[in-house]
Amino acid sequence: MLKLNIKDTLSFISEEELSSFSRIIADCNKALYNKTGKGNDFLGWIDLPSKTTNDDLNRIKNCASVLASQSDIIVVIGIGGSYLGARAVIDALSNNFNGLLSKEKRKLPLILYAGQNIGEDYHNELLSILDKKDYSIIVISKSGTTTEPAIAFRLLKAHIEKKYGKDSSRKRIVALTDKIKGALKKLSDSEGYETFVIPDDVGGRFSVLTPVGLLPIIAAGFDIDKILTGARGMENLCRSDINNPADLYAAVRNILHGKGKDIEILASYSPNLNYFIEWWKQLYGESEGKDGKGIFPAGVNYTSDLHSMGQLIQDGKRNIFETVISIDSSKTSLNFPFVEGDPDGLNFLAGKSLGEINHKAEQGTRMAHVSGGVPNISINLPELNEESIGELIYFFEKACALSGYLLGVNPFDQPGVEAYKKNMFQLLGKPGI
Ligand code: PA5
Repeated sequence: MLKLNIKDTLSFISEEELSSFSRIIADCNKALYNKTGKGNDFLGWIDLPSKTTNDDLNRIKNCASVLASQSDIIVVIGIGGSYLGARAVIDALSNNFNGLLSKEKRKLPLILYAGQNIGEDYHNELLSILDKKDYSIIVISKSGTTTEPAIAFRLLKAHIEKKYGKDSSRKRIVALTDKIKGALKKLSDSEGYETFVIPDDVGGRFSVLTPVGLLPIIAAGFDIDKILTGARGMENLCRSDINNPADLYAAVRNILHGKGKDIEILASYSPNLNYFIEWWKQLYGESEGKDGKGIFPAGVNYTSDLHSMGQLIQDGKRNIFETVISIDSSKTSLNFPFVEGDPDGLNFLAGKSLGEINHKAEQGTRMAHVSGGVPNISINLPELNEESIGELIYFFEKACALSGYLLGVNPFDQPGVEAYKKNMFQLLGKPGI
């Protein structure tokens, strides 16, 4: 089970501060579970793990197996909360070189993504890959009107219809959207695509445990039952234990914020978690950053970024704290070899596993950062697998909701994202703007 370790924050915060927060946390929990707080019409994520039924899951599994049987590639179209959760989990669990494995070795389709940018070269390059491969599309947009995925879908719809014909291409497109409204809903109804409903009361960045995340994740070959088992374990722990890790994390980060720590850096020593960090950045950035408030969520991938951001973290302005996702065991092992004559001076590492070397890098970095004035929260997972990822997702969602309430903002809206759209539409000459 996930463990939270706050010992490396205790030279920055006091026991009294922590215990005085427990009453405030209890009030925030009351508001959350009794649905009396801000944004209370977006709390559907709270019991998603326990309320998802086998029928719900079977429908998702059947759809994924049809898509997989007819595709070398599945293109997932979406942006923000309709994209990052699926990518975070798929990357966390995949072989790092998945795209280079043969189809026989991989057994399942390769997942590619579109709709999260408007890059001209990106889309041209994607279309020319799709010319040569059998593929299907999962298009995801809760509003059904978001510009970036709508642009990608128009391009890919034309491509897939040209490639397979209008009738056959319908069986290769699945849409996830609102149950009633939006252009994607209308289009799906008129074209007869298979659709999944994104629940009204689950906002995009909290939707990874709905079909938004689960369909692409199972299509990529991962066990969604186990993900939900992990998430359910954390859901139950958060409800039943007043000392649960999500509440403690929310309290500690808010106490640190009160002491001028305005930036939280989420770090990991596993390249598999790069997109998980991106998912977390959206979850916390979009939930907390409003009304002139918020902790800025930044991310680093160690040890890479020790050679780029390490200087600033060790020695720059002391307005940061660090949260590290630490994984106890790798899935495989690789021992560092001994070389006669020690030409590169590395024989002191011989016989150690890369996992052990990585852990020592982590330990040494933590000690250096803490002594350099950077409080350090550590989140330990025994292994990177479906269950631990499920726990981690729910842990961060629950802590995020509480953190928003602690800051006094509505963690479930995002009014600020409209500003750029208005300007962009005006510049592009959209009628009626
Ligand atoms: O968390 C959110 O609400 C956003 O990130 C949305 O998910 C994102 O803007 C995409 O919206 P939609 O699913 O409506 O296309």
